[in-house]
Amino acid sequence: ALRALSPQDMAGKRVLITLGPTREYWDAIRYLSNPSSGLMGASLAVAAWMRGAQVHVVAGPCSFVFPPSIRVTRVVGAREMFAAANDFWPEADMACCAAAVCDFRPVPPPCGIGNKLKKRDLDGPPVMELEANPDILRSLGQNKRDHQTLIGFAAETGDLLPQASLKLTEKRLDLVVANKVNVPGSGFDAPTNAVLVLDRNGRVEHWPELPKTEVAWRIWDHLQHL
Ligand code: CTP
Ligand code: CA
Repeated sequence: ALRALSPQDMAGKRVLITLGPTREYWDAIRYLSNPSSGLMGASLAVAAWMRGAQVHVVAGPCSFVFPPSIRVTRVVGAREMFAAANDFWPEADMACCAAAVCDFRPVPPPCGIGNKLKKRDLDGPPVMELEANPDILRSLGQNKRDHQTLIGFAAETGDLLPQASLKLTEKRLDLVVANKVNVPGSGFDAPTNAVLVLDRNGRVEHWPELPKTEVAWRIWDHLQHL
């Protein structure tokens, strides 16, 4: 019914969306992550589906249940999300990476990732060493073909425009949506977002604080300018 009431301007488009946080286990019970709720990506997925798209979601740990006609691959860590997203990308017409991917993961302690690190086995607080995770969005950009459209986010605490502009060019994006992650009403785990949108033609827009459901709808609307 929702779908029948919406414009079908994305009919037949195959859309890949990454969303949610990733969780990087250190040992059997401890992990590194962030407060992403997955709401921005879930809103994008539902909006695209309502507009007629064929949607494939690659979701990190989050509480959403999607309509049965949205295909969902659930993952935990960044490497798993990387593999799932890259797998589907050749078949997709567009992708939007809304996931808050951990840039680093812990190097497993001597007990191994499958066991619990015990205080008794240590001399004092352990030192956690980190290693880099693969950049999913960058990899999609590197493998992008001419007909494909790639959208990324930029989570920032500083000036939005220069950071967004760097991410747009470095990751070969068609559109970047930048948001401040250190102000209320915007960013991780908020129901609303206030974003700056920059596209490959140099068009810049500042959108006011809006519900993430509305931001999602407007992002798909913006594709008409590309
Ligand atoms: N991203 C990704 N894989 C990663 C890191 C980021 O796909 N390993 C994607 C995010 O989903 C987002 C975009 O890249 O669409 C920008 O993420 P962000 O964290 O803002 O930027 P980074 O490129 O990771 O750089 P930094 O965190 O240092 O600002
Ligand atoms: Ca990052």
